[in-house]
Amino acid sequence: MEIIEKAPAKINLGLDALYKRNDGYHELEMIMASVDLADRLTFEVLPKNEIVIETDSSFLPVDRRNHVYQAAELLKNTFNLTQGVKIYIEKRIPVAAGLAGGSSDCAAALRGLNRLWDLGLSLEELAELGSKIGSDVPYCIHGGTAFVTGRGEKIEFLPSMPQCWVVLVKPRMSVSTSSIFGSLSFNSIQHPDIHRLKQAIETDDYQLMTEKIGNALEGVTIKRHPVIQQIKDRMMKYGADAALMSGSGPTVFALCEKKTRAQRIYNGLKGFCDEVYIVRTLK
Ligand code: C5P
Repeated sequence: MEIIEKAPAKINLGLDALYKRNDGYHELEMIMASVDLADRLTFEVLPKNEIVIETDSSFLPVDRRNHVYQAAELLKNTFNLTQGVKIYIEKRIPVAAGLAGGSSDCAAALRGLNRLWDLGLSLEELAELGSKIGSDVPYCIHGGTAFVTGRGEKIEFLPSMPQCWVVLVKPRMSVSTSSIFGSLSFNSIQHPDIHRLKQAIETDDYQLMTEKIGNALEGVTIKRHPVIQQIKDRMMKYGADAALMSGSGPTVFALCEKKTRAQRIYNGLKGFCDEVYIVRTLK
């Protein structure tokens, strides 16, 4: 039997850090939304008790460093499972990009293995297990548009974000999330108005949403990689309604109501960066 799970990318329409907690993590308030750029995972039972990861990407480790491997190992250890599995990852989401590609793959692995091994776990139970592997995994178990707080484990579902075109631009460098959080200073932080942003989404107010998107980590990553500001400026020049860095970066996204504008931004940025995508938001 073969099982397939899609693992969509996410963007942060909002990301605020409230304070640093005693456990070293930051207390966050985020608005996340899934977009239709997705990896695809295929699961197959193996006769031998082993976890085999294969992928078409040259950027992914296939051992314990891969969050998909960790998901399979966690389920096997928690439920004393002896069946082996092969998981093939078709990688489409840029790696270490601020788009939760690794977390979404991990979440897809937990959902897929729950089916393959007939574990009967609810999405809530899978999210709780996933939080042991990464802070964004609980959100990725569910996907959609959500208000995500705590370390990333508290999830309030929202209506889908107002429909629009999203242009994703990933500059060449990779960014380490822990290093960006490590450089965050609460003296100079720019807090976005997450609650007005949440309201904009709840009332399907596209205009207000474009005014209120914001990311408290953006300033930190731009200081290290000024090209992010250049991408944002170019996006606005080519007619974006709004532009923002996603997660801890370095991917920048532009929001456009009109497809022609999205196409113009795509054309304008394609020569500047290799990885440029036009996507839609997902329900
Ligand atoms: O949980 P995860 O391993 O994905 O997080 C990566 C890093 O991001 C953490 O090691 C931590 O430095 C930072 N982080 C944080 N506060 C959060 C989530 C992540 O400081 N709520």
